[in-house]
Amino acid sequence: MGVRRGALIVLEGVDRAGKTTQCKRLVQALRDSGKEAEMMRFPDRTTMIGQLISSYLEKKSNLEDHTVHLLFSANRWEQVPLMKKKLEQGISLVVDRYAFSGVAFTSAKPGFSLEWCQNPDVGLPKPDLVMFLQVNPAEVAGRGGFGDERYETSVFQRAVQQKFEQLIKDPSVNWKVIDAARSIEDVHTEIKTLSENAINIAENQPIGELWK
Ligand code: TMP
Repeated sequence: MGVRRGALIVLEGVDRAGKTTQCKRLVQALRDSGKEAEMMRFPDRTTMIGQLISSYLEKKSNLEDHTVHLLFSANRWEQVPLMKKKLEQGISLVVDRYAFSGVAFTSAKPGFSLEWCQNPDVGLPKPDLVMFLQVNPAEVAGRGGFGDERYETSVFQRAVQQKFEQLIKDPSVNWKVIDAARSIEDVHTEIKTLSENAINIAENQPIGELWK
């Protein structure tokens, strides 16, 4: 028998929910238990498309709303060959944001339907597990203020949160809602258990296609 494939594990949530911290902790914990794991993040600001996105987020340039949505999607698609290769080599990928952020952030803007926003990402490698780090704004108020990037306002983040709540209702995606108002350690323990289960199940399954 060939190598058992790795799992595609995604962490989603509004800003300051602790996604990046938890992604790093999870990769370390999986490695400590002898599993191969790597972290990825979207947007990947290192590519040419990623640099256009980064400049937009830093408000150094303006891009039309549909255009930037499609760039975020293209920034995922350009990583697909590498993602598939790693998964097939048995490496689990822990991903900080994915297509769900893409849809939640753009559809929080006026005039964008969820369906239009989903379309460019249809067929991406389907995550085996998507954990939504749930916090309410009052609970994370002590985690420090927003930065200066585009989208970092509490009004917009509330709209994004509502869009995530709609996406979570989709039964074709393996969503788990995590109470991220708890300590870093407690949240980590739950994420690790869910991820280990997902890795065990994914091993024997083909990579799925998102929203297809
Ligand atoms: P980051 O702070 O995790 O690097 O994310 C950058 C910002 O980009 C964040 O506000 C969420 C937003 N975003 C989108 O609007 N669309 C996307 O597809 C992704 C991945 C992120």
